[in-house]
Amino acid sequence: MIKKFVYGNPIETNAVVVPVEVSGDPIQYLSEIEMNGKIIFNYEMENDDIVYGLGEANGGLNKRGAVYRSFCTDEPNQTEDKASFYGAHNLVVISGMINVGFFIDCAGEVTFDIGYTSYNMMNIEPGTSDFTVYVIEGRSAYDIIRQFREMIGRSYIAPEWAFGYQQSRWSYMNEDEIREVVKKHKDAGIPLDAVYLDIDYMDGYKDFTVSEERFPDFPAFVKEMREEGIHLVPIIDAGVKVEPGYELYEEGRQYQLFCKKADGTDFVAGVWPGKTHFPDFMNTGARMWFGSKYKSLIDCGIEGFWNDMNEPAMFYTEDGVNEAKAYVQSFDFETNDPSRFFELKDKLTGLSNRRKDYESFFHNMDGKIVRHDQVHNLYGANMTRAAGEAFEQMAPDKRILLFSRASSIGSHRYGGLWTGDNQSWWSHLKLNIKMMPSLNMCGYLYSGADLGGFGCNCTRELMLRWLGFGIFTPLMRNHSAIGTRRQECYNLGDTEDFRSIISIRYSLIPYLYSEYMKACMKNDMLFKPLAFEYTSDNFARTVEDQMLVGESIMIAPIYEPNAIGRYVYLPEDMLLVVFKSSAVRRYQIMRKGMHYVTAAMNEVPLFIRKNKLLPLCRTSHNTDEMDTSMFEIIAYTDVNIEYTLYEDDGISKDYNNPENFVSFAIKDMDGVLGAVSNKTIVKLSLF
Ligand code: GLC
Repeated sequence: MIKKFVYGNPIETNAVVVPVEVSGDPIQYLSEIEMNGKIIFNYEMENDDIVYGLGEANGGLNKRGAVYRSFCTDEPNQTEDKASFYGAHNLVVISGMINVGFFIDCAGEVTFDIGYTSYNMMNIEPGTSDFTVYVIEGRSAYDIIRQFREMIGRSYIAPEWAFGYQQSRWSYMNEDEIREVVKKHKDAGIPLDAVYLDIDYMDGYKDFTVSEERFPDFPAFVKEMREEGIHLVPIIDAGVKVEPGYELYEEGRQYQLFCKKADGTDFVAGVWPGKTHFPDFMNTGARMWFGSKYKSLIDCGIEGFWNDMNEPAMFYTEDGVNEAKAYVQSFDFETNDPSRFFELKDKLTGLSNRRKDYESFFHNMDGKIVRHDQVHNLYGANMTRAAGEAFEQMAPDKRILLFSRASSIGSHRYGGLWTGDNQSWWSHLKLNIKMMPSLNMCGYLYSGADLGGFGCNCTRELMLRWLGFGIFTPLMRNHSAIGTRRQECYNLGDTEDFRSIISIRYSLIPYLYSEYMKACMKNDMLFKPLAFEYTSDNFARTVEDQMLVGESIMIAPIYEPNAIGRYVYLPEDMLLVVFKSSAVRRYQIMRKGMHYVTAAMNEVPLFIRKNKLLPLCRTSHNTDEMDTSMFEIIAYTDVNIEYTLYEDDGISKDYNNPENFVSFAIKDMDGVLGAVSNKTIVKLSLF
């Protein structure tokens, strides 16, 4: 049951697609306080209420005890004190004696104080007086999330090849470097489906250009890579380089498609190319224009993109630089005032993404002029929308890979996300693990983090453990920053362990893809907290670092250095499968309760739930070579069970075709359990 409450005159966010009538009643559950013309909502939590939601946010699965500021932020330094990350996902769901969800549909900033100031009090503070609140009642948090997901519409569906292993690094400078990356993976027998093109492929960091010097025949190179089984995925940045003669710049200026300052001139900020203008993604014409530009790369054979710097990230503006300069000039060593030194330092380090700059430019929302900070959270989302809507026009029957750095609810229908710049830290592996279910709650199913960490230097052990989790995330991409240690698997020592771990992924793809597709189609989650399934198990409610992945398996990733295993809570009897490679495994039936499970650095444990089965295909070098005519089944059951595998051609959009649903059953046949399917079952491992 969803009720809608409108405050002021909200800006359309495009988040909700199933219309809900405005309620005439006073808002329930929340009490309102008016302060300086703005409303603060309060909700009194019980001691053991859990608060789920907020998608791409800091902290654990349970959001209690901290302040979160929903304001898309270029934040590579994701330490525990940070309140804003790249995405803005304003859903919170309280689970306890009362189950209720609140979605704050707001284009600008919203602050959630979830028991930080006062342990049992949640305050929600929209930064404006114009927004909509949806109050969702349900039987459980899971039920509320399902209703919410239905209201915001089906999640973006990625092509199946995007479930393969993907290699990226900022600084693959030319064709030969990319050939070498592909060759080294091949030589080491490490499966690979995609290599990413970071800003270095462009000519002078200009969107929709390709450097002729470094990629002399780009279409031929794209084709050559496809023949090697590799998809190239170029980056597209939000900012357009200011350079007379550059087509995008000239057109944007001529047709007034860039964000403007109050004086009517195009707003300028410094990003990778130096001075840039920002396309006005809040404007339908600008969206259509920018979206149409992807065609030039699609015509070269490109089938996937990542949209970046679209918070939008700004390194500096002229105003900011001038203010800092004036401060530096006024700073006199002789004054001998250390407090002024700290101010000076803050002035210089605070040049990027200044609030003042976000307040200094405007959008033309199809006739309505709106200051950027009022719609800040929609900017990246509308860049994703621009691309997604254009792909729908250009290739209506084909899925194109798309994911973005900045996002807000609504953009989940057009693309996935990656969680932006993290670091090669164990704490960021843990953050990645805990965030996945929350992202799913908010509709982001095709998602993942930079495996191994983007900044800092990755170690062999961290990469192995991160991959041990990454083999379950739809986006499985190893990405790192220029200047850091090379972290392609073959640069981290003996390659056998990497080959083995990634080969497990390729055996799991049919299952993961099937569960992902079913979750997309049913507005469900792929990564689920244990509490959502084991509803009457009070201990399961508290578990944050284990989760269900689809209907058959539970995972318990290892995220500590020097660990030889970890404690795992089993909410029911399960079959432990420890994979050393796709083919080498050990099994153990484990009883409900707490266990210490050992798994060496090069092993991945997973748990098959009681009365469930897991289909595995033979591993392959890439998804093109995946053979799904034959399966091995691992089942943990002593009764008849069935599993429906969703499979399709992985690229077209005929999702509901009945032929896409293949049944695997374990059935009693004359007193013995056996496997039944239209597929060839090469092996049944029954426990
Ligand atoms: C941003 C992106 C990162 C990319 C870099 C260079 O930091 O988040 O993924 O590698 O820009 O384009």
